[in-house]
Amino acid sequence: MSYQTRPTYSDFETANHGFAERLSCCLQNIVADEPTHARFLNTLSMLEHMGARRIMITQSNLGLRQDVLKHMAEEARHAFFFKRQADKFAGKSLDYHPRHLIAPAFARLYFKRLESFIAQDMRREENPTLITYLCMSLIIEYRAIWAFGLFQKTLDDAKVILSLKSLLSEEKGHLADMETALADHEIASASRLASYFSKEQALFTKLLGSFEKGVA
Ligand SMILES: [Fe+2]
Ligand SMILES: [Fe+2]
Repeated sequence: MSYQTRPTYSDFETANHGFAERLSCCLQNIVADEPTHARFLNTLSMLEHMGARRIMITQSNLGLRQDVLKHMAEEARHAFFFKRQADKFAGKSLDYHPRHLIAPAFARLYFKRLESFIAQDMRREENPTLITYLCMSLIIEYRAIWAFGLFQKTLDDAKVILSLKSLLSEEKGHLADMETALADHEIASASRLASYFSKEQALFTKLLGSFEKGVA
């Protein structure tokens, strides 16, 4: 993947075209079985919680502004949203114990490895924690918007009542915020972002494989 200009969501979608059917197929199997669906929703809750927690840990300094606090609060709410849905489908209250999740070890690794890859690359730049947060969030939002769109379609096709509409619109808002914030940071160059996209895609491929195994 090489880009003259910074990659856009449409570039991301094109690069992931080959995975759409595979993820949809995996999601169909997940949604078809209520206990598995509950574990999957709980896994999404865990990932959203990790996102909120990382923002809180890395951005809690004197420079903390309203937009970042809003982002943190919304990701925490997404964790709550998915947990509430997970409990509903499970018919009981679920914690984040591995038996209540799908491929939890790799789901955590996906997040951690991507963040450390970006942090390592940005370590000698000015304000590396802020720029790492912006780049990491940009890429995660691309993946979230893409995957939640496919998830909604799978839910609708299976006639499962669960709307991701407001969550999806908040993720789109975050993406727009990250794009705006990154516009002022030339160090987040097109080639750097393209390399983060490739890294994320490699990690996502493994995550998808882990989900497929976890569901089979
Ligand atoms: Fe989120
Ligand atoms: Fe988000």
